[in-house]
Amino acid sequence: MDIVVSGIRSTGNLHLGNYYGAMKNFLRMQDENRCFFFIADYHALTTHPKPMDLAGNIRQVLAEYLASGIDPEKATIFIQSDVPEVSELYLLLNMNAYVGELERTASFKEKIRKHPDNINAGLLTYPVLMAADIIIHKAKYVPVGKDQEQHLEMTRRFARRFNMMYEVDYFPEPSAYNFGQQLVKIPGLDGSGKMGKSEGNGIFLFDTPEEIRKKVMKAVTDAGPRSLNEEPSEPIKNLFTIMEVVSDPSTLQYFKEKHATCEIRYGDLKKQLAEDIIKVTSPIRERIVEILADKPYMAKVVKSGAERARESASRTVREVREIIGYRPF
Ligand code: TRP
Repeated sequence: MDIVVSGIRSTGNLHLGNYYGAMKNFLRMQDENRCFFFIADYHALTTHPKPMDLAGNIRQVLAEYLASGIDPEKATIFIQSDVPEVSELYLLLNMNAYVGELERTASFKEKIRKHPDNINAGLLTYPVLMAADIIIHKAKYVPVGKDQEQHLEMTRRFARRFNMMYEVDYFPEPSAYNFGQQLVKIPGLDGSGKMGKSEGNGIFLFDTPEEIRKKVMKAVTDAGPRSLNEEPSEPIKNLFTIMEVVSDPSTLQYFKEKHATCEIRYGDLKKQLAEDIIKVTSPIRERIVEILADKPYMAKVVKSGAERARESASRTVREVREIIGYRPF
């Protein structure tokens, strides 16, 4: 059983791309490893959310992950801010993180470019907090995408630096866990590229059936095939790709044949696709609503998650303090 840690952004509803990508990974990992999944609500403060929004986002994200199959009996799911030990390790690691290297981080430079009016110190030290999240449980694997690779590289560097500085072999160096090409990439409905929250092309698990129908009917298509057995254009291929994961194989085959014979009506394809997406998302949406309404259940999940996470975190902090030289009189 390897230790796995992953932080979940506290904003952002799950869309179909997340569901068939990262979420499938999580579900597989929770069966095979000792997993710590947490909602990164300290990191969330870099953007200064209103208290009501912060609280609401945390609940929503937690409900969505539980509804999608994260099992609190298998994985430890917790709220980052329920484990204050991480803030102590963050403080300690900050002493050995150099301003120069933090300023060179790609994500930080991007923030400067995009939000020059809010370059707070929390943004600068974001990678240190993330490193603390990970090494506080001595994780071996961190399931993250490409955009987090540099942060993980820094995590390894901070772990290594600590070990060198104190001449110990204490923190393991975690690596990214990537099912890579096995992952299904769900395209967006706007003709090109993958589904993403910021791209505005997503279908969310929490969308109502009406919203889903409206979005799918608006999906980009083309003027229709002009010759027999013509290769579908990218927008059409994208719709077929989504169909491949949500629909019955015979449905996909039916529409592919209609395309090959130039008899396809994109309206029919979209109608069918919308209904098949709804078939997948509806039960999850209902479950999200149910979980959100069940406050005692949510409270129980985060309480027991926090207990387990704190047990692991407080052991690390105790040992780190000892290594650093904070010793009983
Ligand atoms: N930075 C990650 C993201 O933006 C979230 C995160 C915070 C994280 N702490 C983490 C991911 C620890 C993995 C491990 O998605």
